Amino acid sequence: MTPTVRGTQLARLLGRWHALPARRRSPDYAALASAVRGLLADGRLPLGVRLPAERELADALAISRTTVSAAYRELRESGHLNSKRGAGSWTALPSGLKVEGSGLWTSSEDLDLIDLSCAALSAPDELMAATKAALNDLPRYLNSTGYHPSGIPEFRAAVAAQFTARGLPTSPEQIMVTNGVLHALDLVLRLLVPVGAPVLVESPTYPNALAALRDRRARISTHGLDENGWDAELLLSTLRQVRPRLAYLIPEFQNPTGHLMPAAFREQLVVAAQRAGTDLVIDESFVDLALDGQEMPPAVASFDRHGRVMTIGGMSKPFWGGLRLGWIRASAPTVQRLAAQRVGVDTSGPVLEQLIGVHLLSQTEQVIAVRRNQLRAQRDELLRIVAEHLPDWRVVPPSGGVTLWAELDGPVSSALARAVEPLGVRLAPGPRFGVDGTLERFLRLPFTQTIPELQDGIARIASARYDLDRTGSRPQWSEPELIA
Ligand SMILES: Cc1ncc(COP(=O)(O)O)c(C=O)c1O
Repeated sequence: MTPTVRGTQLARLLGRWHALPARRRSPDYAALASAVRGLLADGRLPLGVRLPAERELADALAISRTTVSAAYRELRESGHLNSKRGAGSWTALPSGLKVEGSGLWTSSEDLDLIDLSCAALSAPDELMAATKAALNDLPRYLNSTGYHPSGIPEFRAAVAAQFTARGLPTSPEQIMVTNGVLHALDLVLRLLVPVGAPVLVESPTYPNALAALRDRRARISTHGLDENGWDAELLLSTLRQVRPRLAYLIPEFQNPTGHLMPAAFREQLVVAAQRAGTDLVIDESFVDLALDGQEMPPAVASFDRHGRVMTIGGMSKPFWGGLRLGWIRASAPTVQRLAAQRVGVDTSGPVLEQLIGVHLLSQTEQVIAVRRNQLRAQRDELLRIVAEHLPDWRVVPPSGGVTLWAELDGPVSSALARAVEPLGVRLAPGPRFGVDGTLERFLRLPFTQTIPELQDGIARIASARYDLDRTGSRPQWSEPELIA
């Protein structure tokens, strides 16, 4: 079923459309069309969504139907709307604007490069000692086969204990250990999402999750985030209408926007998903990285009464991506099904890394305290230098996680990414975080790099931004890049 946006919902998304700059120069209908195009380009209004009937939108915006009619006509002419008599009008992008994220990972060996496409920290100081301690533990496992499809018992118990300590009682049987968080998502998708099944994601979202979904040939629908995060009413209504098989969401310091989903909405979300027959896959990659001392809302899974929430998380963001340690928290029978599923994928994960994980998890507080101080200082400096060098960019300061989501002064994200490469900076432009080539007005900036790297990187980006205006380069993007 094609999802529909209601008149009142679209009116809310459009906000103060009549006060946009286009309004000063153009008639009402053109300003309205331009505002709808803006929502599409920013990924806040998904593609393939049915717009309200002309009369309904006219009522919601308190304008004449003729104005809405003319705006829809203009949108049809510019390729942003497809209409069929009697069936309605649904959103589209003009042909030639589609940009597919390749999802490819190509690691950079260029040491002079300031890589702002990757949002990941280097290893914590505690890693070497934890590795040595794990080597001492390893003989305990050497007389066994070493195959543990759900993970070694000690690591499962350590992960379960962390959930329990957060107020989410969890037994080791509810934990499946994976080779990183993306592997966790892949296993869940293999289990739950048949080819062509509808899956709902945020827009913007984590690009490699989109790659995993495309790989499973899921039918992707999006929920657009704005500067306040999720629009509860719209998301719940999309769940009701689309009835996705699964929704993949990042409620804790969302990648890339940094938003934290409010507690009240979490409960509504679980209830609505249950009614829609949708399984929720909640990616908690950043749950430990609150930066402003705030109390964290309860885990989404704490509202789950029907075993429909699967929580995925791991050690990559708070500890180190090189460990490749992740997990799935689900019901014990689901974990068994996932383990059976894994036999045809990679059978089992390495024992030594899990033993390292046990030692590191026992030092979580101390490792995280250092991470938080470092990330807070880097975030604050990044906010300061962006405001200084690029004053026309708008940023909602994130209260956690590792990235800023900057709203640029024009749809130049890909052009900028291209322009800074010769200056030795690598960026992940906005469209990589969405589907169908939208989000050109946005750029993700990580604050995982050191302060001197951030200062240097932003200075180079600012100079490339001003050059873009002078040379008028056209946006383009062709090379696969590393995004994490
Ligand atoms: C939201 C989110 N999920 C998953 C991952 C991948 O984690 P891993 O490296 O453990 O596969 C990332 C990495 O950036 C991420 O941002």
